[in-house]
Amino acid sequence: MKLWEKKAVPDSRVIEFTSGKDRTTDMCLAEWDIAGSMAHAIMLCETGLISEDEKKNLLNALHSLFKKTKTGNLTIGEGIEDIHSQIENELVSILGDTGKKIHTGRSRNDQVLTDIRLFTRKEIDETAKTTSRLFYQLLSLSEQYRQVLIPGYTHMQPAMVSSFGLWFGSYAESIADDILMLSDARTLNNRNPLGSGAGYGSTLPLDRKLTTELLEFEDLLYNSAYAGLNRGKAEFAAASAMASLAQTLSRLAMDMCMFMTAELRFVDFPDEFVTGSSIMPQKRNPDVFEIIRGKARLIQTLPGQVSALVSGLPSGYNRELQLLKDLIFNGFSELKDCIGIAIHMLNHIRITDNVTANPLYNSIFSTEEVNRLVKQGVPFRDAYRIIGEKVGNTSFTPTSLTEYTHEGSIGNLCNSEIERIFRSRMLCFVNRSSQDLIDKMISL
Ligand code: ARG
Repeated sequence: MKLWEKKAVPDSRVIEFTSGKDRTTDMCLAEWDIAGSMAHAIMLCETGLISEDEKKNLLNALHSLFKKTKTGNLTIGEGIEDIHSQIENELVSILGDTGKKIHTGRSRNDQVLTDIRLFTRKEIDETAKTTSRLFYQLLSLSEQYRQVLIPGYTHMQPAMVSSFGLWFGSYAESIADDILMLSDARTLNNRNPLGSGAGYGSTLPLDRKLTTELLEFEDLLYNSAYAGLNRGKAEFAAASAMASLAQTLSRLAMDMCMFMTAELRFVDFPDEFVTGSSIMPQKRNPDVFEIIRGKARLIQTLPGQVSALVSGLPSGYNRELQLLKDLIFNGFSELKDCIGIAIHMLNHIRITDNVTANPLYNSIFSTEEVNRLVKQGVPFRDAYRIIGEKVGNTSFTPTSLTEYTHEGSIGNLCNSEIERIFRSRMLCFVNRSSQDLIDKMISL
């Protein structure tokens, strides 16, 4: 029986179609639905809507359901629409009439909004944690190989002298900016929709500030109708942050594929980390980075998909909002997977020394030669012409790293500055588990 079922028995195909993937997707929300329900029960008691005993019974029953979730024993039963219905049904079967009181002053609309926000907050924090591992790994590779030169490219043509230090460090600094997007997404996500009901509040004297505090939201989503309108907006911010990180990853993956070609071979990996061909025995394929590149490109479509789903919808709840869950949850899972495997690969990267000794790259030193003349007082444009005439028929003297003194050049990477920026942007990711919140509420 559905929570909303009245006289007519709902058509089973309609229910199957409208529930869609919820019966599996919603399992990610179970622990958060329980945390939200605990905060709601405490609030109902504080405002006199349920008794102290009823609160205690609800909290204990919810706690036992939480343990069931953690051991994988809570499942959504046959014919039950979603996790909210399952948990309410279980409470009713454990507690009878007291269980029936949990939905006082609440709608599945603000309930699902709350669950999603709590789940997303944790996903954001976990993504930040994994990303931080990648950041520090890139930064330490940058330090480790700061002396090893490679050609830097423009238009995919050898352009100027670069180094592994500059290359690895550039991706670290890119991540420092992606993390800012993620921290903004966290701020946008971290407001409490609970108590907004179906989108129009309640005649009951709810204490929304209390649930905000209990669930450790930074503030409330005040306007009840806006709490509903916010569905899609917080998701858009999360999707954009994911897309930003994915863009960094896809470019890193592309560089890797390029640097691993037989022609360049600036980097390589042990045999166990490359794949072969069923017919061509010589192949060393960078499949991992190709898959990262592809998945990262797909993640970059998320903001567009969220936007397509939400823009133009009338205000108030509309059922297709439900489709956002799968997009976003899946996005986080794919993104964390890609970052994880990138870290795994980078742990085994092999760097080729002396790449720039190849005469093919002789011309990348020509800009430095121009600058030598400039330092002797030759006007830049004249120096450019003089050296330009020699390109192709002379070899240029490679300069040393010490000649690069300005911030952000190969001789002065400023990695500690990049780390400073990154570290300050990481402070907001608190990473509280559902267990933390529940332990706190149970011991109040
Ligand atoms: N599965 C629904 C969702 O994710 C839960 C809310 C249902 N609310 C409703 N009015 N049908 O949006």
